[in-house]
Amino acid sequence: MKHLIDPMDLSLEEIDHILTLAQDIIDHKEKYSQVCRGKKLATLFFEPSTRTRLSFEAAMMELGGNVLGFSSANSSSSAKGESVGDTVKVVSCYADIIAMRHFKEGAPMLASMKSDVPIINAGDGGHNHPTQTLTDLLTIKREKGRLSDLTIGLCGDLMFGRTVHSLIKAISRYENIRFVLISPEELKIPDYIRTEVIESNNIPYMEVTSMEDVIGDLDILYMTRVQRERFFNEADYIRLKDSYILDNSKLALANQNLSILHPLPRVNEIAVEVDDDPRACYFRQALNGKYVRMALIMTLLGLEADE
Ligand code: NCD
Repeated sequence: MKHLIDPMDLSLEEIDHILTLAQDIIDHKEKYSQVCRGKKLATLFFEPSTRTRLSFEAAMMELGGNVLGFSSANSSSSAKGESVGDTVKVVSCYADIIAMRHFKEGAPMLASMKSDVPIINAGDGGHNHPTQTLTDLLTIKREKGRLSDLTIGLCGDLMFGRTVHSLIKAISRYENIRFVLISPEELKIPDYIRTEVIESNNIPYMEVTSMEDVIGDLDILYMTRVQRERFFNEADYIRLKDSYILDNSKLALANQNLSILHPLPRVNEIAVEVDDDPRACYFRQALNGKYVRMALIMTLLGLEADE
């Protein structure tokens, strides 16, 4: 049995298989509509979510399966003091596969050690978010036609943004990637990502504070929200929250082939006027998230389409 806890749990071949399957699901939805008949997905969300939880649930439903779960820690027995390990041991009696989001880094990893069914990390604190990364990779592949030869700008809260950490880990394994890391001094990428992932793979990168200075050089601009819930004090959040706002005037400095991604939710970092620009990919990205999760569920359950 296999779990997905960290993006590095998947080899490049496995990622390629999931992305290819996701594209086949997009092209031939009817082939997949009964693949998970009789199977159940449990979504255990100890932290807020819209896209991740609902796209997991929609994914399972579109595969003909069923879903159960909870959407906040308060509505589960964790509010009574139950451990994550006990919750998962019990839920693995009710479901065939579990997607878990938790505010503590490492909680899904711990859950995977107690579970009798595959565990998918749907976000653990400021650490990893591997299914968002699969979503991002499918989006880049569909928008750009490739996952190599890219200059990728990551902008915003690079310190606490788990989607950023996971995407850097995963995409660093492709050929000829360059990173432009755009953040305030206080929200720079954690040292372990810079040294153990970027530098140890000899990937060219620069760290800058100005978006305008670099936007013209980018193939991808990955915008992120400042992660309010991970700050120790509200004053720091208020000071940093509007560090970057992408609007049409800044977009005028970018090249025509730029793809703008954002894991969403957006707060202020992308002006609504940008949504109508063909370079804005973030709503297509959210849709891709459903298809890639369908492919992931099938892969972890070892299921194939009926021919
Ligand atoms: C992200 C997350 O939860 O880390 N959202 C998502 O899953 N699409 C990004 C965020 O909350 O800023």
